[in-house]
Amino acid sequence: GLGTITIPVYFHIVLPNANDVTNSQLQSQMNVLNSDFNSSNTNQLPSGATNFVNDATTTNINFTLAGTYRYNNSTASWGTNNAVKAAYPPITPETHLNIWVCNIGGGILGYAQFPGGNSNTDGVVLLHSSLPGGSAAPYNLGRTATHEVGHYLNLRHIWGDGRCNQDDFVLDTPSSDGANYGCPSYPTINCKSTDMTMNYMDYTNDSCMYMFTDGQRNRMRAIFTSGGARASM
Ligand code: ARG
Ligand code: ZN
Ligand code: CA
Repeated sequence: GLGTITIPVYFHIVLPNANDVTNSQLQSQMNVLNSDFNSSNTNQLPSGATNFVNDATTTNINFTLAGTYRYNNSTASWGTNNAVKAAYPPITPETHLNIWVCNIGGGILGYAQFPGGNSNTDGVVLLHSSLPGGSAAPYNLGRTATHEVGHYLNLRHIWGDGRCNQDDFVLDTPSSDGANYGCPSYPTINCKSTDMTMNYMDYTNDSCMYMFTDGQRNRMRAIFTSGGARASM
């Protein structure tokens, strides 16, 4: 098998005052990514969620901080059209995860490009205040990065971006009717099955999402195998 996969990360901080996001916040964000991708957190699952206990897994994907670039830029908000990536292009996206940290606007927490896309726009964009210690509560524990890196590694939203019959191409994630928000009680039932509201690829509060499944792990790791979209990493 592939064993441990290690992904080096470049941060591009683009803000009127780029020092507003501190090195200690970036280190905390790295710690959250490493923890979320390497802890199954089964102890946090509600009693009764026995199927989910079996599904929850570590991914054996690690992240290392390879460099931080700060750009003072007076742009008030950047939208989701990749403009921030055009202004500050990714560095060696074939081998590095590029993360832009900026004000996106419109209440958007982040966006990502799926594997196999244009290398000029490859990477993840995060709302600056979503980093640990930021002001975007209840989305300020760093799990927007976990969610967006999930997309970057080929994961779809857990409800498949559609109604009950829409697929996220992962067998062990239950189908759902749409996104869940807040901190749903267990069980939350849609489409005749219990929603995995605590999955990182749902839309719940940062404190209420804490697992990937075996199927998600396999889907992510598959892109690193020979011929896969991120094999060059
Ligand atoms: N809405 C964003 C997306 O679809 C991110 C959602 C992140 N959720 C969170 N609890 N941080 O990519
Ligand atoms: Zn998403
Ligand atoms: Ca599924």
